[in-house]
Parts: sequence; structure tokens; C-alpha cells
Amino acid sequence: MAGRLNGRNAVVTGAGRGIGRAVALALAEEGANIVVCDSGGTTAGSGVDHAPADQVADECRRFGALAVAHYGDVANFRAGAEMIGKCVETFGRIDILCNVAGIDRPRMIFNMSEEDWDRVIGVHLKGTFNLTRHASAAMRQQRYGRIVNVSSDAWLGIGGGGQTNYCAAKGGIASFTYAVAREMGKYGVTCNAITPNAGTRMSQAPETLAGFAKRVEAGLMRPDEYELLISAPPPEQMAMIVAYLCSEAASHINACVFGASGDMLSYWTPPVQSIRVMRNCKRDGRWTWEEVERHLPTVLSSYINPAPIKEK
Ligand SMILES: NC(=O)c1ccc[n+]([C@@H]2O[C@H](COP(=O)([O-])OP(=O)(O)OC[C@H]3O[C@@H](n4cnc5c(N)ncnc54)[C@H](O)[C@@H]3O)[C@@H](O)[C@H]2O)c1
Repeated sequence: MAGRLNGRNAVVTGAGRGIGRAVALALAEEGANIVVCDSGGTTAGSGVDHAPADQVADECRRFGALAVAHYGDVANFRAGAEMIGKCVETFGRIDILCNVAGIDRPRMIFNMSEEDWDRVIGVHLKGTFNLTRHASAAMRQQRYGRIVNVSSDAWLGIGGGGQTNYCAAKGGIASFTYAVAREMGKYGVTCNAITPNAGTRMSQAPETLAGFAKRVEAGLMRPDEYELLISAPPPEQMAMIVAYLCSEAASHINACVFGASGDMLSYWTPPVQSIRVMRNCKRDGRWTWEEVERHLPTVLSSYINPAPIKEK
């Protein structure tokens, strides 16, 4: 144990399995105390099981860290408060929050139920808000904090197809990360996000892989994207990237989204307005149909339609 997080206390959601577990262990390996939060359900988010969180808390203790489990649902505002409260009450304060918990309920938009939409948005986006809301109040008071959220390549609809709920949630998390970072930076609190690629239950379950294969067949996913997903290295190989972002060494890194996997670290440039046409509306009034038609080819000069119409 290198001890670079000695004396720091962390809440990690989704820490019972996959990426969350690997992150909790990396933080514990560096000396942090951990609240291991996981409700233990299926990939679709049903059911409750205490075993994954209990097991990871045990594994954290083997590094000499203090660890306690919480089995609440991150989508519940009160449960989020309890998770942060448990860290403060048990360890004295909260320094680190990693919002990793997630589920997947893929359906094409025309088949998606309201429940599948609400639950995916609830766990990912509202869950990230719930924990961040409560942690940020404590972090602001102490003028120190590290928040790492988990977005996805899906945040810009990349690789999407049957995942509009998930893409919307992950895009929301990226946007939320930028906004929190700007609000909290002045208090010594950083907020960053990762878009991981790791072999986990969620990414490599047989039904998930079958879904990816269907997307390739339907032209919704490129074969190279598919290859990247099915050959993803285990989450333990990328977890130290998150641990680094949770350290004092990363005090200057705020409002960043990183691609993170065992074989890659990258930085996502935030979306920018690329080509802009300016006009004087005070003088010329509203846009006319003809003007729109004239200027669109300029602003779209490097654009490619990702989903052109397909003849039956
Ligand atoms: N694996 C990848 O390549 C990949 C890629 C992009 C994004 N992600 C994101 O990474 C995160 C972790 O995914 P993973 O691949 O490790 O999946 P996973 O299924 O292995 O782990 C997710 C964990 O979150 C827990 N969880 C789910 N809903 C919860 C809730 N409401 N409250 C508390 N805990 C809950 C589950 O019990 C599970 O242990 C997710 O947000 C996922 O969307 C993963």
C-alpha cells in the first residue's frame, strides 16, 4: 500500500461489483476508508442482495482500510443522504465520492416503457445528483472534495441503438459534471467523469453481447466498436485512474471527462460550436426560410448524417 489516500474517506456507489468494486479496492489500497454502497440487484436493476457490498467491504479491510457497507438505492434521495451521512458519522468526514452505480434496460425508443426510461434515468442521473447533492454540502464546508462520476461513450449517443434512456442519462451525467465542477471548484472541490471500457457483468453478459451483435447487424454499431467492447480489459486495470483523480495530486484537474480503460486513457474535448454564421437580427429581422436554406450548407460543411434513411 502506497498510502497516497491515507486519512481520506470515500463513498463509492455500485461498489459491490465491476468498476465500482475495482475503484473501491484501488482507493482502499491507497489507504482510504470506504463506504461500500451497493443494492446488489440484477443488471436491469431488480432485486436486492447484501452479499456483494459485504464481500467488497471485507476485501477493502484486507488492505488495512476501514470499510462499511450500505445497501440502499442511489435513486432514492433519502438513501443518498444516508450513504454520505454514514461516511461522516463513521469516519469523521467525506473527502471522496465516486458515483458508479448503474443499470441497463435497452429497448428501441419506439418500444421503451415509461418505467424503463424512469428507472435508468433514476439510477444513473438522479442517483448521481442525490449523492453529489449531499456530499457537496459537506465538502463545501470543509473546502475539500473529490467527485468522480461515471458517464459513457454513450453520452453523445455513440454506440447507441436501443439505449436512448442510458444515453440520455450518461449525457446528463457529463453535463452535470461540468456544471458541478464550475460551482464547486472555488471551494477546493473537483468534479470529473470517466467514460470507462471494462469487462464486467453489465458489458459482457451474454444478452448484452447478443444485443451488441444485433446492433452491428442493423448498422447501429461499427464492427470496430463491437470489437472494443467484447475485448474490454477487466476493471481492475483502469481503477487507479479514478483513484488518482480522487487524490490531492489531482487538485488542478476539474471539469474533465476522461476515457478510461486498462489499455487507454484519453481526454474528451467538450462539445464546441464549430462553424458559426452571424447575422444582424436588429437590422434584418427574423431568419427567413431562404436564409436558413442558404446558410445551412456552410454550418454543415463537415457533417455526416449518422443514420441515413434505409430502403426497405
Ligand atoms: N463496463 C463498461 O464497459 C462500462 C462502459 C460505460 C459505462 N459503464 C458504467 O459504469 C458503471 C458500472 O458498471 P459495471 O460495468 O461495473 O456494471 P456492474 O453491473 O458490474 O456493476 C454495477 C453495480 O451497481 C449496482 N447498482 C445498480 N443499481 C443500483 C442502485 N440503484 N443503488 C445502488 N447500487 C446499484 C449493482 O448492484 C452493481 O453491483 C455504470 O454506471 C455503467 O453504466 C460501464
